Amino acid sequence: MATATEFKPTIIGFLCNWCCYGGADLAGVSRFQYPPHLRVIRLMCSGRVDLAFIFRAFAQKADAVFIGGCHINDCHYNPEGNYDAMGNTLMAKRILEKLGVNPERLRLEWVSAGEGVRFAEVMNDLSAKVKSLGPLGSSEGLPVAELVSRMRTAEDLVPYIKLVERERLRVPVRTEDGYRQFFGSQAFDDLFNELVLDKLVLSRIMGLLRRKPVAAMEIPGSLDLEPSEVARHLQHLTERGLVKFDAGQTLVAAV
Ligand code: FES
Repeated sequence: MATATEFKPTIIGFLCNWCCYGGADLAGVSRFQYPPHLRVIRLMCSGRVDLAFIFRAFAQKADAVFIGGCHINDCHYNPEGNYDAMGNTLMAKRILEKLGVNPERLRLEWVSAGEGVRFAEVMNDLSAKVKSLGPLGSSEGLPVAELVSRMRTAEDLVPYIKLVERERLRVPVRTEDGYRQFFGSQAFDDLFNELVLDKLVLSRIMGLLRRKPVAAMEIPGSLDLEPSEVARHLQHLTERGLVKFDAGQTLVAAV
């Protein structure tokens, strides 16, 4: 009788060389047990983890992404490297959520080189969490191909998002609590919706129309968006000549 195959998650782990990687090494030599689901990418600092790396990992169908850095204020290069990691993680979580990916699939933890036990505990906990969520797309109720397409859209938008972060979304205080408060604030929500979310929706509509002509009324269903939201963006795109009506009511990308 055929038996169900056990789900073995793929977790992409970006580990800072000086702290978390050392913690992982210590866990290994100390023979602390944790599931073998992590694919490690060693970086010199958690602040090196670009937003694009996160979306690309999910676009490659990773079930989760882990970022491990030095404890706050222990970053070995720029004392603020792990603040950059925190900003990128909180921004990525917000974008993932808006694109239909469970943000719990992305985790950031601080682990020092002497914390082998803590590294194993974090990996055990993360593996259990990802197993409970299932493969990418399963807990989201979306086909993985659709999520891959959304992740590529997000990755394409990263240069713009970085510009927006630098100009309009600077975190005012360099403390861990300050970061969490800023990313959880109404002010952040308003700016995010105005500057990032609108661009993501526009990019998704343009991406769909570049792949194939689509009737305007089919777009909300194809992209899982509200009809009123799509109508607002289509008006903007047609006024600027970025999309046009083909024969009948079929829309195509003009660029
Ligand atoms: Fe480890 Fe920067 S060197 S987080």
